[in-house]
Amino acid sequence: MRRMLLAALLAGSLAFGSACGAGANSSGDSPNEDLTVIGMSQVGAESDWRVANSESMKAVFTEENGYRLLFDDARQKQENQITAIRRFIQQQVDYIVLMPISESGWDSVLQEAKEAGIPVILVDRMADVEDESLYAAHIGSDFLREGRLAVSWMEDAFREAEDPVRIIHIQGTPGSTAQLGRTAALEEGIAARENWELLARLDGDFTQAKTYEVMTEYLSSPSGRGDIDVVYCENDNIAFGALQALEEQGYPCGRGGVSIITFDATRGALTECLRGKISLAVECNPLLGPLVEEAVRAMEAGRTPEKHRYVEEQAFTGEDLTEALIEGREY
Ligand code: AHR
Repeated sequence: MRRMLLAALLAGSLAFGSACGAGANSSGDSPNEDLTVIGMSQVGAESDWRVANSESMKAVFTEENGYRLLFDDARQKQENQITAIRRFIQQQVDYIVLMPISESGWDSVLQEAKEAGIPVILVDRMADVEDESLYAAHIGSDFLREGRLAVSWMEDAFREAEDPVRIIHIQGTPGSTAQLGRTAALEEGIAARENWELLARLDGDFTQAKTYEVMTEYLSSPSGRGDIDVVYCENDNIAFGALQALEEQGYPCGRGGVSIITFDATRGALTECLRGKISLAVECNPLLGPLVEEAVRAMEAGRTPEKHRYVEEQAFTGEDLTEALIEGREY
């Protein structure tokens, strides 16, 4: 029934332009009503990680695999995500997959999805909703654990330090699960060690351009002229922006210089790690498409998917890496 209505919507004037992939199938025929329809609201394309995550979803939710994917890129705005979800509800899709930009602000729209009988799968980040039944499953990373891996590396690296360990912390999108978890781990680390000193906390919004701008501004200011031991970057694109700004301002990075810590471990960051410019890359696995499909298949078969599913992740230093290993990775 739901798929029938979607077919009518897609064929008729109610189909919306921004739901990429909507409309007749690629051959121009009318939509195939046997396909399972997935409405997906992605945060944007702010990072290399995000691009790999979208590709992983698109590779799985294909017509050959029995799906019609309505993919919406919210361009890093929560209001665009909410609009997309309401559109998916109107189109009566079979499932909504949501990568929430930040944790708060989802109760009403997810309640609307629930009332329409559409299961919602949260991917990557969490939504902080009062009623857990507003989502069927959450699949993503344990961001607090990722942060603790980084803090434990810092602990080893600066175990012998008697002088203050001077840290700059560059955060991702405020209120996102990735930012909250990675920040909480660093805060725990700083609170537990007397000689760890937070010099500055900057907002890099998970992008290279913004980080380069805020870091250059900070390093050029009177307070930014002192020694720096660690720059804790909440994703790879932040690390790229920070590295560029640090080097331009004359700070050597790597062994004997500033230790850059990053999260994601995309190929670009691992390459910098192998070159010695980045000291630690903590993995954040974007290849979540197959796990999301497993949850959909479970529900199609009348089973209840696992409520929270976290992916396995590890941390890399230069010693763990080779060019072949980096080449062999999928992102
Ligand atoms: O939520 C995952 C984070 O979001 C990744 O670390 C980052 O690169 C992305 O933009």
